[in-house]
Amino acid sequence: MKLNSANINVMVKACRKASKILIRDFGEIENLQVSQKGPGDFVTVSDKRVEKIIIEELQKARPTYSILSEEIGNIKNDESFQWVIDPIDGTANFLHGIPHFAISIGLEQNKEIVCGIIYDPIKDEMFAAEKGNGAYLNNQRIRVSARKKLNECIIFTGGPKHDSKDKDLVLEEYRNFSSKILIPIRKMGSASLDMAYVAAGRCDGFWQRNLNYWDVAAGIIIVKEAGGFVTDFKGNNDYLKNKTILVTNSRINKEMTEVLK
Ligand code: IPD
Ligand code: CA
Ligand code: CA
Repeated sequence: MKLNSANINVMVKACRKASKILIRDFGEIENLQVSQKGPGDFVTVSDKRVEKIIIEELQKARPTYSILSEEIGNIKNDESFQWVIDPIDGTANFLHGIPHFAISIGLEQNKEIVCGIIYDPIKDEMFAAEKGNGAYLNNQRIRVSARKKLNECIIFTGGPKHDSKDKDLVLEEYRNFSSKILIPIRKMGSASLDMAYVAAGRCDGFWQRNLNYWDVAAGIIIVKEAGGFVTDFKGNNDYLKNKTILVTNSRINKEMTEVLK
């Protein structure tokens, strides 16, 4: 990895340690898949185990930082620094033996995300960025794509959850994008990797409603440092407040906001 600030090193170390367990547990899933009980409870245990390792490692290195993590919630401490953690993003994939999920860790300084890593342990792909120092995939600098015409783009989305109040809206957005683009919309099942893929130029744009902060925290800095845009559906900065996130290369943001109107 070309980024080597102290905080990035702490995050990468915690993530690599936790990912060993995650890979081992993923190996077990295949066996459980065919068992009567299925892997459901096992996944919950695995999620918590991975989270525990990440938190222990981060706390060892930075005992005063606050933490927001999906499974345990908040650990309040020095409020100027906060780790934002999703121990497994893409749990449904993990549960079904689909090798597409990630560990996501962001670092907030004075309420702004300044560092982020998203690690896909199966493909051994570490996406990382730090404010002002660029975005990387393993040792390679990454940039968003240069595609300008929405109809030629690959677009990702996720949801709606089965109990979502916004189900009709989400399906309408899906229908609207479908009629504008030639390649069918992808639903990969891991919002953090969706954002990492926009940063790496693999995907041109991603939109989704109702994501949580831990799903997107690391992705925000990785996309921005790769030259992409992170906005709400209107193209403004209120994506956390509105819970509508639009992540694009630098060229199709406007066209995607038109579709989302
Ligand atoms: C989920 C994934 C998925 C998104 C869901 C998230 P989880 O996170 O990011 O892609 O569509 O809204 O909840 O539950 O696997 O950590
Ligand atoms: Ca998640
Ligand atoms: Ca999760």
